[in-house]
Amino acid sequence: GSLSRTALSGVVALTMLSISMQASADTWKMALGDAAGGTQYELGTTFASLVEEKTGGEVTVDLFPNGQLGSEQDTINNASMGLLDLSVLAINNITPFSPTVGVMTLPYVIRSPEDARTLTHGEIGQEMVDNTVRDAGVRILAWAYSGCRRLTNSAHPVASPEDLEGLVIRVPKNEIMIAAYQAWGVNPNPLAWSETFTALQQGVVDGQDNPYITIDAMKFHEVQNYVTDSCYVFSMEPLIISESKFQSLSPEQQEAVLAAGEEATEHSYEYLLAQEGEIKQRLVDEYGMEITEPANDESEWIKQATSIWPDFYDSIGGKEKLDAALSALGRDPA
Ligand code: MLT
Repeated sequence: GSLSRTALSGVVALTMLSISMQASADTWKMALGDAAGGTQYELGTTFASLVEEKTGGEVTVDLFPNGQLGSEQDTINNASMGLLDLSVLAINNITPFSPTVGVMTLPYVIRSPEDARTLTHGEIGQEMVDNTVRDAGVRILAWAYSGCRRLTNSAHPVASPEDLEGLVIRVPKNEIMIAAYQAWGVNPNPLAWSETFTALQQGVVDGQDNPYITIDAMKFHEVQNYVTDSCYVFSMEPLIISESKFQSLSPEQQEAVLAAGEEATEHSYEYLLAQEGEIKQRLVDEYGMEITEPANDESEWIKQATSIWPDFYDSIGGKEKLDAALSALGRDPA
């Protein structure tokens, strides 16, 4: 009768309402190269909840950790083509697509969390954002600060560059990092991040370098015994958005996305300072890793690795770019 017709039209109206609500909430995909639990994940989840809040629920984000959406370098390609919305990946995996960010991966330029924060916040940071949009079709929205990259290996303690002899070390596919190991006298093996755990496990490579927080999130302690407490590159991991996606947003949404990125960056910095020491201790106490201090205050490592700087002046846009970074950090020109 008329009652059931009324009930039915109510159901139809409710169904239509829920369809239109679903259509207006846009769900974005975010790739993460690392497993859940590290700095990438912390940045990703923080950004996701902030952007949802700041857009009043118009945008939600689904995270895909552990390289599920491809290697870190694949995810830039995909974002650049508009096939992927967001990715969190290491800065060294952006360098091949936008070489001027190489100033941030030159060995021993960034030597502390404070240095990293200074470079990502200042004029230099803004230039990286602009250059990455121009060169790679992706926009840096936020930064995860993951800490200094520490060398790990399965064979023996490494204190000096000579101790690397006979070890095969995995490096990212990054010319600067390859050159740094060559300056230390070995030929590293460039491998995608997504293949690194298996390569370590199968003994295809003996070692790799990444921050304590990443070593822990990736469970590298299961396949590595020794860590050198060195700091040749500071790992920063930008959150990037496909520039075509960004340009398709309303001005209000763009503002919300940028603000969410800024807040998530601040959170990431606090997270590193709060967590790194504890995680380093856990690698020793719970997982039995042995930490070695670099010999002679790391001086041989520094001298040999910084000798490659001039080979990259052209790719970073000239020596003056390095000098500007060093000056922002209160250091002498190269
Ligand atoms: C790499 O070694 O390729 C990256 O630094 C890994 C990461 O994103 O954590």
